[in-house]
Amino acid sequence: MASTAPIGVFDSGLGGISVAREIRRDMPNEQVLYFGDSANAPYGTKTPEQVRELSFAIVDRFVKQGVKAIVIACNTATSAAADALRDVYDVPIIGMEPALKLACDRGQGHRQRVIVAATPLTLRERKFAVLMDRFKSDHTIFPDPCPDLVEIVEQGRLDDHDLVMRTLHGYFDQYDLSTIDSVVLGCTHFVFYRDYFRELLPDSAAIIDGNPGTVRHLRVVLESLGTLAPDHAIGGIELANSDTSERIAELADALLHR
Ligand code: DGL
Repeated sequence: MASTAPIGVFDSGLGGISVAREIRRDMPNEQVLYFGDSANAPYGTKTPEQVRELSFAIVDRFVKQGVKAIVIACNTATSAAADALRDVYDVPIIGMEPALKLACDRGQGHRQRVIVAATPLTLRERKFAVLMDRFKSDHTIFPDPCPDLVEIVEQGRLDDHDLVMRTLHGYFDQYDLSTIDSVVLGCTHFVFYRDYFRELLPDSAAIIDGNPGTVRHLRVVLESLGTLAPDHAIGGIELANSDTSERIAELADALLHR
């Protein structure tokens, strides 16, 4: 595959734009084809079978477009579909999972209290159970499904401060937040809430997302295959969406430049 071929990046909707931004920041020579499936969002409240079917259709589209790698910029689709996709397609497929390891490692051997905010499907799937098993005996982990945070982004209501803070309090007032060491943003939509989480949490609590790690992994994979874009290549992000309305196009563009 030519090193100048694009990278396909997809999500159930607009959340994966937070990953596309990170790719642009870290690897400005890469050309990214972003596909958001907002017409079918959210994925987090669907069955694994439904999410697999939707993911296959998107990957098929990317393969026809000649991408050199695919990033599943969606923890939910990764849980439900990554293994099945890798069984079928030769193109390298990079997935995501809640960055729980990063949160636990921060403790340097001390027991951490970690909230993992993600979609209901991510938290129900086997992949997350395996992740929990690695860390739950040494740390206190609170998995918390937060589907409304996906809807707020998709509805373009992220700037509604009162709505967002009310929603966050609805999910997190059950905890004594002064005892929490970190919150893992285990859904790419949630990365856009970083400032709101900062407002909610005491300074002592870290806010952790998996985007930088995913992009580092992407770089390693491309490097190992010799398909990193050359320094003279002109990179960029092309946004596409299954919801072809003007509203979604404007929202996607605003998130990309947020
Ligand atoms: N952005 C997605 C994730 O990272 C899923 C959101 C959804 O559609 O429920 O899990």
